[in-house]
Amino acid sequence: MDQSIKAYIRQLVQEAVQQSASSLSNLPSSTGRKQYVIANWKMNKNIKETLEFLQQLKEGTGVEVVVCPPAPLLYPAKLYVQGQNKEIQIGAQNVHQEDKGAYTGESAANLLKDIGCSYCIIGHSERRQYAQEDDATVNQKAKQALKRGLTPIICMGETLEQKQQNQTEKVLTTQILGAMDGIDVSQVIFAYEPVWAIGTGESATAEEAQRIHAYIRAVLAHIDKRNAEKVSILYGGSVNENNAQEFAAMDDIDGVLVGGASLQVDSFQKIIAVFAKGA
Ligand code: PGA
Repeated sequence: MDQSIKAYIRQLVQEAVQQSASSLSNLPSSTGRKQYVIANWKMNKNIKETLEFLQQLKEGTGVEVVVCPPAPLLYPAKLYVQGQNKEIQIGAQNVHQEDKGAYTGESAANLLKDIGCSYCIIGHSERRQYAQEDDATVNQKAKQALKRGLTPIICMGETLEQKQQNQTEKVLTTQILGAMDGIDVSQVIFAYEPVWAIGTGESATAEEAQRIHAYIRAVLAHIDKRNAEKVSILYGGSVNENNAQEFAAMDDIDGVLVGGASLQVDSFQKIIAVFAKGA
């Protein structure tokens, strides 16, 4: 599609959403939406540490617990939780958009599914930065994940510079429309992860995150009014055992994607307990 037409559509959606966001955020709370606590280990942990962590980790009632280890640890992690009959899901941190072929170092969606992954993080800001993934790539990867039976966890968020320039809503609208082209809203999970909050120890405030989550939901409602209210939108960015409760209390925050604080089983378990309790 022509770039100017895309920009025009984005502008129209943004204006319409801004008008309706306040009324949408006043809707009844998130009853019925699935709650998630997801560990993004990034490039951390070896096999021994992984199995020790999973041995100690307990699932939580009413909350889906997902652990996303580095790719070589996916299969042993899956075998371990399966062998222990734990209700803990395993997710990949990335997936390739093609079925198979000459893509050195990449992982195919059907292989990830085959070894027991249920979820796949897509479009994390680190991959957008280091692997130059853009919204079109995110869209292709999400389509491929869905085709092979993996649930995409689609990440989005603004940089500090974009936030300071009051571009947050504009950036998110572009990211959502780009990522969701031709995708069924009800089949994916979203994670709002402001780039400035990732790994910095400086999270968004719960109120700030709630406002943005309501905005994201309003954009989704423009794509699919019926399903937008059912979609789980997680917050990520310096979530820890001390601030998790504040996020859990917000109507439009349906879980968290946790990096640093998911590496210690004690702190991750406390975060699970917060969401399990509220479920
Ligand atoms: P963080 O990372 O919790 O360490 O900020 C979150 C993420 O990158 O998903």
